[in-house]
Amino acid sequence: MKNAELFERAKKVLPLGVNSPVRFFEPYPFFVKSASGAHLYDIEGTRYLDYAMGYGALLFGHAYAPIINAVKQRLDTGTLYGTPTEEEVVLAEKLSSLYPTLEMSRCVNSGTEATMHAIRLARGYTKRKSVIKFDGCFHGSHDTVLVKAGSGASTFGVPSSAGVLEELSKYTIVAQFNDVQSVERAFKEQEIAAVIVEPVMANYGLIPPSEDFLKSLRELCDQNDALLIFDEVVTGFRLSKGGAQSYYNVQADITTLGKVLGGGFPIAVYGGLREIMSRVSPSGDVYQAGTYSGNPVSVTAALKVLELLSESLYQRLREYTRELTKKIAQIAEEARITLVTNQIESMFQLFFTNKPVRNAHDVRTCDTKMFKALHSALLKEGVFLPPSQFETNFVSSAHTKDELEKTTNAFQRALNKLKTQLDKTD
Ligand SMILES: Cc1ncc(COP(=O)(O)O)c(C=O)c1O
Repeated sequence: MKNAELFERAKKVLPLGVNSPVRFFEPYPFFVKSASGAHLYDIEGTRYLDYAMGYGALLFGHAYAPIINAVKQRLDTGTLYGTPTEEEVVLAEKLSSLYPTLEMSRCVNSGTEATMHAIRLARGYTKRKSVIKFDGCFHGSHDTVLVKAGSGASTFGVPSSAGVLEELSKYTIVAQFNDVQSVERAFKEQEIAAVIVEPVMANYGLIPPSEDFLKSLRELCDQNDALLIFDEVVTGFRLSKGGAQSYYNVQADITTLGKVLGGGFPIAVYGGLREIMSRVSPSGDVYQAGTYSGNPVSVTAALKVLELLSESLYQRLREYTRELTKKIAQIAEEARITLVTNQIESMFQLFFTNKPVRNAHDVRTCDTKMFKALHSALLKEGVFLPPSQFETNFVSSAHTKDELEKTTNAFQRALNKLKTQLDKTD
């Protein structure tokens, strides 16, 4: 079976052939048959060195034996009980020890659910309606956060998807990442229940926070009796064991976790200070429930992931990613291609621009055609980056020196090819 043929079938039964929008790219995506370590294998037998890594979930690479074996053992004891397990308690205890303000937590199945319930909880707790989010930050696909900035001076949000009600979107105010003044303005305009932020923006390319940005958010929330929600679905266990909160030494009131936590299995968590979390049903008046919440298979995977995290792991990931981005920058410079690389720990992104990339506006000024051309050229070299400028590349512990060398060689050929094409069109 060829990818092209399967895509024709897929298009008839799935919207543009995929189950999540980013998975589609021109002319059609490859369909994966299996994966192992740092590699994906498609139905045509082609091998790809993977930097999407389940969009950040797979810190240990594909089919990592310790996680798979733990889950295999668990499967024989049942997969869903509908009653509590000891492991759920252990998981919540462990999370509390890593994230000091996560005094209590609740398991859900996806990052979308986690942020949706975190926002409902913040609104219920503060008895306020409005939420501040940042241009370019992604918090999943529910109505409160599928909002973009309105036009003109108003900071009221407008829906960024059909089907989202304007009546609801006006309660989401869109501010600029790394711009404290835009947040101050939003606080002046309305009573704010919560500020929700990706501490490192990882869904609009990769943008780390500028110095003191997160601390300023903490201060503004305290001054205005609003809650600070750190959406650590990407940064949790990726930046460090204690996520962005220990990395930047800023504590949130409510935290959301997902991706890495599940080691490839669906689980996410929202949690926070006891006083706030006590408001969640059944102890409190903010309703939330879920059939698969805290399911034993995902919880087993999560406990194994937590067991496997170590300082030496983060050091290895950091060194690989630094070395790779340094080499890519060198290759681009030698090829006289203007490129900015943003990197933090095991995440990186490349932007075809000559200016620093510090917020969503900067990303929108980058040459996305060049990015697409690079993506296609790398795919031909057997290297798979997430197919969008507005995503982030992730390194896993399965990426070794060998993969580093293969990636740099692939970049060398791909960037030189782009340069030849550019010279021809000049
Ligand atoms: C920061 C952040 N929050 C929330 C989500 C939504 O998570 P999920 O796709 O598990 O619903 C994502 C997904 O990419 C994310 O990156």
